[in-house]
Amino acid sequence: QTINWYPGHMKKTKELIQSHLKLVDVVVELLDARIPESSRNPQIAELTKGKPRIVCMNKYDLADPKVTSLWKRHFEEEGASVELLDAVHGDGIDRLMRQIVDRMKEKRAKYLEKGRNPGPVRVMIVGIPNVGKSSLINKLVGKSATKTGNRPGVTRGKQWIRIRDDIELFDTPGILWPKIDSREVGLNLAMTGAIKDDILNIEDMAYELLRRMELHYAEALTARYGVEVDPTAPTIELMDAIALRRGCRRGGGEIDYDKVSRILLDEFRKGLIGRLSLEWPDDFIERRGAVDED
Ligand code: G4P
Repeated sequence: QTINWYPGHMKKTKELIQSHLKLVDVVVELLDARIPESSRNPQIAELTKGKPRIVCMNKYDLADPKVTSLWKRHFEEEGASVELLDAVHGDGIDRLMRQIVDRMKEKRAKYLEKGRNPGPVRVMIVGIPNVGKSSLINKLVGKSATKTGNRPGVTRGKQWIRIRDDIELFDTPGILWPKIDSREVGLNLAMTGAIKDDILNIEDMAYELLRRMELHYAEALTARYGVEVDPTAPTIELMDAIALRRGCRRGGGEIDYDKVSRILLDEFRKGLIGRLSLEWPDDFIERRGAVDED
C-alpha cells in the first residue's frame, strides 16, 4: 500500500525547513522509538545539510528498552548522537539539552577565544506527524517558563524562544513526511498511530500487530489477555482466543473481529500490553541511501 504525499506540500515543507535552517545550529530529529526506521525521513541528511543533528528516540516509554538500546548503538555506529526521550513526561529532556550544548562546545569556545559572544545555540525540532514534536516543544518551553518565570505576551508561532541561558528553540517544528515505500512501513506507521486508521484496514493492522507480538512478546500477551501463545499455530487462533477472553462476539455468537482489533490496537498504542517495539535494526533494509525525487 502506497500513500502519495501531496508533492506541493512536500516542496513547501522542504523550503520552510531550509529557510529556517540557515539560522539553526543544531537539528533535533525525532523518531518513534518503536519504529525508528519507518518513522524516519530518509532525506533528512540532505534537508538539514551538514547541520549537527541529534537523533531522539521519542516515546521511549512505550518501546522495548532492549530493542531501543540496539537501535541506539546502531545509530551511534553510523556516527549520530542519540538520545532517548519521553516527551510527555519529560524524561530525557535534560540529557537532550546537555547534548545540544555539547555539540556546539568547540564552536562556542572558538568564538569566545576571539572575544566574540557566541550567543545561544539555536535549535529546531523536526519529525514526521505525531512523533511528539509539539509535546517536546511544550516540555522544553514549559521548563523555561518555570525556571525563568512566565513571560506574558510571548505568543507562540514562528519565533525563537529562550529555553535556557544558552539555548533558543524555534517554536514551529519542521514537519517531515515518512517514506512509505512498502506495506511494512505503512503498517508500522498505522499501528503506532502515526497515520490515520482509515488508510489501512483495521483488522489487517491488528492481525499484523498480533503476528509480530506472538513472535517477540508472547509473555506480554499471556500476561495481558490470559491466553496461551503458540507461535507455530495460526495467528487467527490467537486472535480468536483474545476475542473470546474480551467478550468480542456478535449476536449470533460469531467473533467480532472489528471489536477485538480495536482493543488490540488501542491497548498497544497506550502501552498497556507492555513496552513493545515493532522494528529491529537487524531487519533494517537500506532505505536511507535512496533519495526520491519530488
Ligand atoms: P506532533 O507534534 O509531532 O504531531 O506530535 P504530538 O506532540 O502532538 O504527539 C502526538 C501524540 O503522541 C500525542 O498523543 C502525545 O501525547 C503522544 N506522545 C508524544 N510524545 C510521547 C512520548 O514520549 N510518550 C508517549 N507515551 N506519548 C507521546 P495524544 O495527545 O493522545 O494524541 P493522539 O494520540 O490522540 O493523536
